[in-house]
Amino acid sequence: MRSSFLAFGLLAAGARAAPAAPGWRFDVKASTSGIVALEAIVVSPTLVLFFDRASDDPLQINNHSAWGALWDLQTSTVKPLDVLTNSFCASGALLSNGSMVSIGGDPRLFDGNPAIHPNGNAGIRIFEPCASPSGDGCTLFEDPENLHLAENRWYPSSIRIFDGSLMIVGGTHVNAAFTNVDPANSFEFFPPKDGGVPRPSAFLERALPANLFPRIFALPDGRIFMVANNQTIIYDIETGVETPLPDIPNNVRVTNPIDGSAILLPLSPPNYTPEILVCGGVAVDADTPPDQLSSQDVATTQCSRMEVTEAGIARGWQVEHMLEPRVMPELVHLPNGQVLITNGGRTGYAAVASVGQPVGNSNADNAVLTPSLYTPDAAPGRRISNAGMPVSPVARMYHSTVTLTPQGNFLIAGSNPNGQTVVGPNVKFPSEFRVTTLDPPFMFVDRPVIGRVPSKLAFGRTFTVPVTIPRNLAARDIKVSLMDLGFSSHAFHSGARLVFMTARLSPDRRSLTFTTPPNGRVYPPGPAFVFLTVDDVTSESVMIMMGSGNAPPTLE
Ligand SMILES: *[C@@H]1O[C@H](CO)[C@@H](O)[C@H](O)[C@H]1NC(C)=O
Ligand SMILES: *[C@@H]1O[C@H](CO)[C@@H](O)[C@H](O)[C@H]1NC(C)=O
Ligand SMILES: *[C@@H]1O[C@H](CO)[C@@H](O)[C@H](O)[C@H]1NC(C)=O
Repeated sequence: MRSSFLAFGLLAAGARAAPAAPGWRFDVKASTSGIVALEAIVVSPTLVLFFDRASDDPLQINNHSAWGALWDLQTSTVKPLDVLTNSFCASGALLSNGSMVSIGGDPRLFDGNPAIHPNGNAGIRIFEPCASPSGDGCTLFEDPENLHLAENRWYPSSIRIFDGSLMIVGGTHVNAAFTNVDPANSFEFFPPKDGGVPRPSAFLERALPANLFPRIFALPDGRIFMVANNQTIIYDIETGVETPLPDIPNNVRVTNPIDGSAILLPLSPPNYTPEILVCGGVAVDADTPPDQLSSQDVATTQCSRMEVTEAGIARGWQVEHMLEPRVMPELVHLPNGQVLITNGGRTGYAAVASVGQPVGNSNADNAVLTPSLYTPDAAPGRRISNAGMPVSPVARMYHSTVTLTPQGNFLIAGSNPNGQTVVGPNVKFPSEFRVTTLDPPFMFVDRPVIGRVPSKLAFGRTFTVPVTIPRNLAARDIKVSLMDLGFSSHAFHSGARLVFMTARLSPDRRSLTFTTPPNGRVYPPGPAFVFLTVDDVTSESVMIMMGSGNAPPTLE
């Protein structure tokens, strides 16, 4: 009785969800995010942590507007979190022991309800691993007096490095209405290294004034690749040496407030050759006074790609073009190795009400509503396509986010190019509370299933786990990806990473054998999501701990 009822329920749900032929689709959820989701990070198989600024958002907690929340992917509903410090324009990442750390933020006081908040400028906000699927009892830990950054940082970036710690890069000390006028041109770490003394950076100096939210990546040898403005370097954490690399070509700038985005393309065994892709932004002199800029200035179509090897650097950046100009695009990995390009506009800049001709408060206009896919191993000129892509019902401009979910679709939220919460029929780009998923075609067909996987996987080991492969799949092509889903803030996914693992199916297709990356330089020790893609049909993921799960610093 019960099982037939369940089967009927599943069929009915499946029939309601499936379009006539499986294709990509946008799905606007019935519940809203309650806060503007201007930062987003997946913190468990079922939960996404959102941050906004201290503001007058509708979601309430302890008698005030919340500016943190947990989005439950199972129910598509939100729960408020009480945040002590102002997380506006912060960054974050997961540590080797699974804790999420959000860093930096807004130094200003919010004159609303409540009227006063502790300064978030040196904020450190820790969300410990949460075992409750719905987030019950899971809270943020903050102790601003005793636990804070060494330097004040607004608009910084942060990534997990080879020893499982966070490296924290750049930012500004004060309110940056547009470009960086009081820079924090230094690096620091959490937990601290060097006795907590920040390391000055000549690269960040050179990248002024548009060097906010630097795009930074842990290379598979443990060094850090960085892009800010049109400057690029490799930074060696162990020797402290910055090695300048070629500029982004053609006067294009790619970091806040002239946001393009960047991504580390998937790393594959045996060589894990790193390639960086940088897309969008604007070809403009970064010193132009903002009142001479317009929300109608056309962004660039340019994507620049470089292999970060001696030969690749000698060849330099290879230019290709998106289907449209994009400012504030987001680049996000798919488990099959493609890259989603979404969000942002065709014209203008990031930041709020600071250019000569804004649209309302928005420095950008002409929302790009159709995502594209970038296929890294296709021939140049044939890599970018929007064939079969739907049109977003919601514009996602400044302060919007997107993340791949553990289920394999994309969660898209936020957008607020306004100083505070602004809604109403006459506002072109209001504070956006609608939450959307972008669902790939494989969400509507029978999918592979990964069975039980050990909760911790050691580096350089081979594991065999049970799998279920749909009968209709020939299983000619098997991909197993180990992914960090990144921290989405300001058109950048700090820490996002996809490492393919050597893998094979057993002849009876009931078990999958795969080999983990050799060390924490290839995949910094910490949480990871494992996806199996069979003939381009991707499973839901299994969340595991790559490495020991020790607190940082750890080399295993
Ligand atoms: C919220 O406000 C109500 C009414 O003013 C008060 O009774 C209650 O104690 C407050 N709760 C908190 C958590 O401050
Ligand atoms: C990078 O920016 C600097 C400073 O604006 C400029 O002098 C240089 O020509 C730019 N490089 C390229 C390749 O456009
Ligand atoms: C992980 O490590 C950080 C830094 O040492 C610490 O603050 C946090 O509490 C640790 N988390 C767990 C779950 O032990």
